[in-house]
Amino acid sequence: MKILNYEKQFEQSWLRCRLLSYFYSAFYEDVVREKPVFSNRSIELIAVQDDEVIGLIDVVLDDPENKLTFLRKEHGAFIATIAVHPDHQQSGIAQALYNEAIKRLDQYENLSFIELYTRDDEAANRFYEKQGFVQSVKYYDVFGVEKGLRKPVSVKPGEGRVLAESDGKPVRFALVDSIYEAYDEHGIDQIDHDRVVPVYGYVKEFS
Ligand SMILES: CC(C)(COP(=O)(O)OP(=O)(O)OC[C@H]1O[C@@H](n2cnc3c(N)ncnc32)[C@H](O)[C@@H]1OP(=O)(O)O)[C@@H](O)C(=O)NCCC(=O)NCCS
Repeated sequence: MKILNYEKQFEQSWLRCRLLSYFYSAFYEDVVREKPVFSNRSIELIAVQDDEVIGLIDVVLDDPENKLTFLRKEHGAFIATIAVHPDHQQSGIAQALYNEAIKRLDQYENLSFIELYTRDDEAANRFYEKQGFVQSVKYYDVFGVEKGLRKPVSVKPGEGRVLAESDGKPVRFALVDSIYEAYDEHGIDQIDHDRVVPVYGYVKEFS
């Protein structure tokens, strides 16, 4: 295993390593399909074995014009990502990546602290505690919608589309399993959306 600077040629391998690592953690829904690029100075390292990325760490530094950390008023560094491929965990890879990142941080003056956020995984929390991190704040990532927005909806097939009703009135969109379902373009327009994915319904008749 070698610790190298991240290079673009490793992007797919980096993404697969992060995906698999996060899959078995409380970050399982946090999927990226391109490696994040940082405008601030950064330390981006990978652990490579047989040409595959088996571990990674990204540390981003505060810039005078772009302070990313907020737990202290001084300038610091931020661990954006640390992940080790599940087949290679608990063999010191995260420790080796972290040690090398810290060594490289030494060359930057005026950095007073490192900040990071994680969820409730035993491995990550024990890892950070072992490095001497102390818990400073707690908050919650909540996936869902504000209470009162969820309404029962009944749907039936129309002419090539879905007809939906709620409280006996036709509706163009409804919230289902914390995801809005829009039944036509007007429904989409009424939702402040980041992503719209078509869903196709198929039927096969028995002859
Ligand atoms: C957290 C993570 C990066 C640790 O990687 P790793 O290479 O397995 O860790 P290391 O082998 O270097 O372990 C170093 C120390 O971390 C702690 N640790 C690591 N895995 C642990 C586990 N499963 N349970 C408890 N402590 C653990 C231990 O203190 C360990 O020291 P020790 O070996 O002397 O006991 C890895 O579990 C991972 O990728 N998790 C999923 C992704 C994630 O949660 N990333 C953090 C997002 S903020």
